[in-house]
This record gives sequence, C-alpha cells and structure tokens, in this order.
Amino acid sequence: MAKNTLSFVCQNCGAAYNRWQGKCESCGEWNTLAEEDTSGSVPVSIRSKRKGRTFALESLAGKSPDAPRLSSGMTELDRVTGGGFVRGSVLLVGGDPGIGKSTLLTQATSMMARAGHRIVYISGEEAVAQVRLRAERLGLSDAPVQLAAETSVEDIVSTLSEGAVPRLIVIDSIQTMWTDTVESAPGTVTQVRASAQALIRFAKKTGAAIILVGHVTKDGQIAGPRVVEHMVDAVLSFEGEGSQQFRILRAVKNRFGPTDEIGVFEMTGLGLREVTNPSELFLSERDLGTPGTAVFAGIEGTRPVLVELQALVAPTSLGTPRRAVVGWDPSRLSMVLAVLEAHCGVKLSGHDVYLNVAGGLRIHEPAADLAAAAALVSSLVNAQLPTDAVYFGEISLSGVVRPVAQTPARLKEAAKLGFQRAVLPESARGDAGGDAGLSLNAVNSLTTLVAEIAARGSRRGESGAPAEKNATPARFRRGEG
Ligand code: TYD
Ligand code: MG
Repeated sequence: MAKNTLSFVCQNCGAAYNRWQGKCESCGEWNTLAEEDTSGSVPVSIRSKRKGRTFALESLAGKSPDAPRLSSGMTELDRVTGGGFVRGSVLLVGGDPGIGKSTLLTQATSMMARAGHRIVYISGEEAVAQVRLRAERLGLSDAPVQLAAETSVEDIVSTLSEGAVPRLIVIDSIQTMWTDTVESAPGTVTQVRASAQALIRFAKKTGAAIILVGHVTKDGQIAGPRVVEHMVDAVLSFEGEGSQQFRILRAVKNRFGPTDEIGVFEMTGLGLREVTNPSELFLSERDLGTPGTAVFAGIEGTRPVLVELQALVAPTSLGTPRRAVVGWDPSRLSMVLAVLEAHCGVKLSGHDVYLNVAGGLRIHEPAADLAAAAALVSSLVNAQLPTDAVYFGEISLSGVVRPVAQTPARLKEAAKLGFQRAVLPESARGDAGGDAGLSLNAVNSLTTLVAEIAARGSRRGESGAPAEKNATPARFRRGEG
C-alpha cells in the first residue's frame, strides 16, 4: 500500500498530490493545497478490515412502513426538494454565511416537529442558547425539536442510534464536524468528507433523512464540501443579495426531483416568509418610464416568473469598454452584443454596457436573450419600451429569434399580472393558443425588433416627450396594491 503517501489535498476540489505545489492541476485554484494525513482515509481502510457478510436482496415493489417523503410544511421548500425529504436521503444546503440557512432550517424543523415527527437539530456553530434565541425570535420556542450543540460525528451517531429513529436530522454545519477515523484538523477536506460519509452511512442504514449545511466560498462553490456534493442525494443552494430581502433556494442536484425549481423567500424581522407569487415581488419596485428596462417572461422549473432586466449603455473613454452583468451569464451578454453589432448595425464598441436582473434573481434560460437585447437597444437609443409588454425568445448567432419552451405558461402569467402585449418569436405564435388575451408582436429576426425600438427613439426625439403614453398595468403603479 505504498500509494497511501499522497498527502497534499486541494481544499477546493479534493484532488490529492504527493508533493506540494502552488496550483491545483485539477481545478486550477492557487494555494489551496494543504497537507493532510490521508493514510487512514476512510473507504479503503474500513472496507479492507471488514469481513464480507451476506445480506438479503429485495424486490422493487417492497412497501416502506410510512410515507417515503416528509413534507417540510413549507411549500417553497417542498417545491425545491421535489415534494419533501426522502427517507434515508442526505441533502446539502449551501449558501453564504448569514444568508439565512439556519433560519430556514429552524423554521422547517419546527413545523415538522409540531406535526409529530422526531426531529433533531445539531448545531456545531452556535451554542444551544443561541439557537434557542433564534427560535424565540421566530416564535417557535414551543416546537418539540431536539437540540444539541455537538461536533463529534461518533458521539452524534451513537446518541441518535438510541430510541426511535429520527425522521430528520439537521447538521449545521458539516464544516464543523470531525470524526476520530481521520487525523486531519476539523474543516479540512479529509475531515469533511469522512464526517459526511459516516453521516450518510447512518442515514442509509436507519432511514433518517439528513440535511447537511455547508458554507460557500465567494465564487459560489461550496467550500471544502464540494467534495461532498457528489456523495449526497441533493444539493440545494440558498442565494440572495445581502442588501436585499429576497432569498432564492435552488436545487443544483436532486436525485429525487427536478433541478430547475426555485423556492422564493423574503427575509423579515420574523424569519423567512414564503413568496408564492415571485413575479409580483420581482416587479414590485419597477422603475417605470426609464429607457433600458424590459420585462422578461421566464420560467423557473415549472413556474413562470416575470422579472425586469435593466441595461445601461453609456459612451466610454476606455480603450476596452466595460461589460458588467449581474444575474445573467456574461458570455450570453457578449453573444447578444456581438449579434447586435454584426447583424443589426448597432455599434457598441465605444460604449460601456451594464446589465442587471432586478431583485437578485439569477437567470439561466437562453430565452432571456430577446429581453436583454431589447433593454440594451432601448438604453442605447434612449427610448422607453412599452411598460405593458413582456419579452422572451432565444437569439441565434445569425440574428434569428428562435422559439422557446412553455410559451402559453409565460403568456398566462403576463396576462395575470396585467400586461397587455408580448414580444415573442414568430414561430412561437402557433403555440400561444390565442387565449391569453395579450396582443402578440411576433418577431423573427433581431433586426426587426431593433428597428422598432429605434423608431420609438426617433419619434420620441421629434415630439420631445416619450411617444408611449404611460400604459402601465394598474398593479405596478407605485402605491397601488
Ligand atoms: P442565519 O440563519 O443565521 O444565517 P446562516 O445560517 O446562513 O449563516 O441568518 C442570519 C441573518 O438573518 C442575520 O443577518 C439576521 C437575519 N435574520 C432576520 O433578518 N430575521 C430573522 O428573523 C432572523 C432569525 C434572522
Ligand atoms: Mg447558520
């Protein structure tokens, strides 16, 4: 077993090397290698010492004693997990420190405990008194959650092996856990991996569901526990801008449900409030009447979500103009800008370009291309877009506007929120169904859209006032509902 001399482990991705080096060749990060004693590293030693035993093989049709899923009592959380926590599954909840992971889990565990399940909350970061204080603030002190401040995995496993099997165990956080089976310091990749393995084994053996909390690094990856990501059944990421009240829970990986669903919450003085209609939330602070904003009719999972895209295109004195984007893929922005330059005669090389998705949402859909392009051109020509219109459609490199999925759902949501027209791909007009009650402006190439917006700009220039009367859907005027 001379191979066991590998002892420098990347704290970012878990790759192991037998000598120190500045850069991890596996993930490309610098200064992430730390010396760890991997000789006692878990799987090999455990497996090699044990004698094989026989076990019974079972059929797929077997019945489990009770419901395979445990509802959290929070609709938004259940939506992201795919309908509740699966027995014996292990889920990792990642997020920046202070984003609200402990708050979310305190609320969820309290509700489940009130529903009569045995729920255990192990805090490795806060003392019992601090957890109690939070529960008191949330008005949940009476919930029969079993609480402990512990960090030793062996102690936790032996304690929980007694009595009825807990239905759910929260480990807050996995970075604070340590196990006797490895020598490394707590928080190192080896410790995190070994602790997670021990807990996963416990979950599979007993059928208890386990939630591991993990902190993420500034670039959005779950620190250290990235190595845990592929061991667990589901990875949820809790996101949000610190300065804003909205929090978004997103499934990054889910063996038992969809990965594109989001749960939306609002952080209030009394904990997290579920937001059942995110579109209203994302559009509530709309800056009406300014050029450079377009409403995108998007889909998150199974749910349509309307959100405002804001663009600023400003002349620059820099040799290399700035391109900054928040909430969207920067390479997607570059592509849209290139198509605008190449096919629509829009010159942007002398301009800085900023694009922002309002409300702290992150958009992953290519369907946002058309809304982004509309916002950009609107800012460039300083012409306001109609405030009662939504935009969606993918733009190809040739400047063609391509159809996207779920057109009817997008239109329905827009109509529900008081919008009156939709700018969409020509080929999607057939799917629209015609029942949404919106007037449809189908465009088949980006050039058409650019020409329309530019025309608004010149009309505005002649009259000296915005051409469009303020055709705002009533519910978005400030101060109303
Ligand atoms: P917390 O759940 O401790 O974050 P994490 O576990 O992800 O590190 O949340 C901490 C933040 O949430 C803190 O800045 C205070 C805020 N907060 C509220 O605004 N309202 C509340 O009711 C609670 C409990 C916390
Ligand atoms: Mg916490």
